[in-house]
Amino acid sequence: MTTFELRPWAHRDAEALARAVRTTPDLDRQFGGDAPAALDEAQRWIATQLATTDTHRGWAITADDVPVGSIGLSHIERRHGTAWAHYWLALDARGQGLATRALASAAEWAFAQGLHRLELGHRVDNPASCRVAVRAGFGAEGVEREKLRYGDARFDVELHARLVGDADPGVQPLEFAAPSWEDRVAAVWADAAALE
Ligand SMILES: CC(C)(COP(=O)(O)OP(=O)(O)OC[C@H]1O[C@@H](n2cnc3c(N)ncnc32)[C@H](O)[C@@H]1OP(=O)(O)O)[C@@H](O)C(=O)NCCC(=O)NCCS
Repeated sequence: MTTFELRPWAHRDAEALARAVRTTPDLDRQFGGDAPAALDEAQRWIATQLATTDTHRGWAITADDVPVGSIGLSHIERRHGTAWAHYWLALDARGQGLATRALASAAEWAFAQGLHRLELGHRVDNPASCRVAVRAGFGAEGVEREKLRYGDARFDVELHARLVGDADPGVQPLEFAAPSWEDRVAAVWADAAALE
């Protein structure tokens, strides 16, 4: 039986990431026209995911430790307790509820960190993403007109949000596998201290 989990991206994932991008045509749009289809591009993208900033946390969605997707929180803002969720899956990993479970995990992580409100947005012509959001407890809050531009076309975006006090959506979250982000950040600080 396949084990699905979340863990921080690792340098060794570059080949699997590039393969996922090459086999999933709609990811180019998700990556803003700059999807990492080549090995060196995938290596660079993973390096950005591993940067230990306070404003972003990203995890690979893995099947038996091989990345098949991504879930992340960007724009983490501690004063107001907010963040922006984003996710994608390789084509052959879709249709099994993995994005919904990963989003539920990211929400659990964020609320345990003290965040209060998580937001996400999807183009109104992306019903699968809308369904993922709603099933993971992110209610729709309205349409932002022509918010995104892809090429020459502009798209309306539906905003969804989940608050810490909202009802539990009853989704089984994916487990976080080691190392945790907290362990990674501690290791980076330990390395920095050792250099002093
Ligand atoms: C969004 C995405 C992660 C969803 O993948 P997934 O979790 O495997 O989604 P599924 O294919 O299982 O679909 C999720 C739900 O939407 C429904 N759905 C899928 N396509 C649909 C369509 N065209 N119309 C209506 N409902 C649809 C499914 O039936 C499913 O419903 P259920 O939960 O009630 O069973 C995936 O499509 C993806 O990576 N897309 C490209 C990147 C992207 O759009 N990311 C989100 C940016 S906001």
